[in-house]
Amino acid sequence: MNSIGQAQRMAGLVLGVISGLVLGGAAQATEAPLTVYKDANCGCCTKWVEHLAAHGVAAQVVDLDANALAARKQELGIAPAQQSCHTAVTADGLVFEGHVPATSLARFLASHPAGARGLAVPGMPPGSPGMEMGDRFVPYTVWQLEADGKVSAYEEVRDRAAQYGPGKGYEPGKGYAPGKQP
Ligand code: CU
Ligand code: CU
Repeated sequence: MNSIGQAQRMAGLVLGVISGLVLGGAAQATEAPLTVYKDANCGCCTKWVEHLAAHGVAAQVVDLDANALAARKQELGIAPAQQSCHTAVTADGLVFEGHVPATSLARFLASHPAGARGLAVPGMPPGSPGMEMGDRFVPYTVWQLEADGKVSAYEEVRDRAAQYGPGKGYEPGKGYAPGKQP
């Protein structure tokens, strides 16, 4: 084999190792135990947990009454302006409030700025994951919760299909493939 062919093979090998590491890291991150606190009667909360599962993010659900849920949000330092229906917490104490897309959650778990405490989608934007209403979609911001109680914009979600990410059984204009519905 000539040296160019060897160099190409080596480059392919290095790329393969790097992509293996990246994939390995992502798989590990999405296996982080996530506990979802919600009201027992919350339908969109259950649909959000199903959306996570469809994207390979396992979650343990804990039903709380309204007072206990409000207290849990306060304990976790989620300001009223950032609050939504459900609250998810990792074993490391990272929090995900409301209908955060699974793809954003997984990306944040894999890598996030030092000091950032989690993500929040305040309220319940129509058309966000778990809040599907046919074609209805209201653009929303995913906020990053900072350690000092401040927030910064993590991501602007302007397109209904974009929030599901590629390769997850969702095709823009077609929706989910059979068996892949959130
Ligand atoms: Cu909800
Ligand atoms: Cu909810």
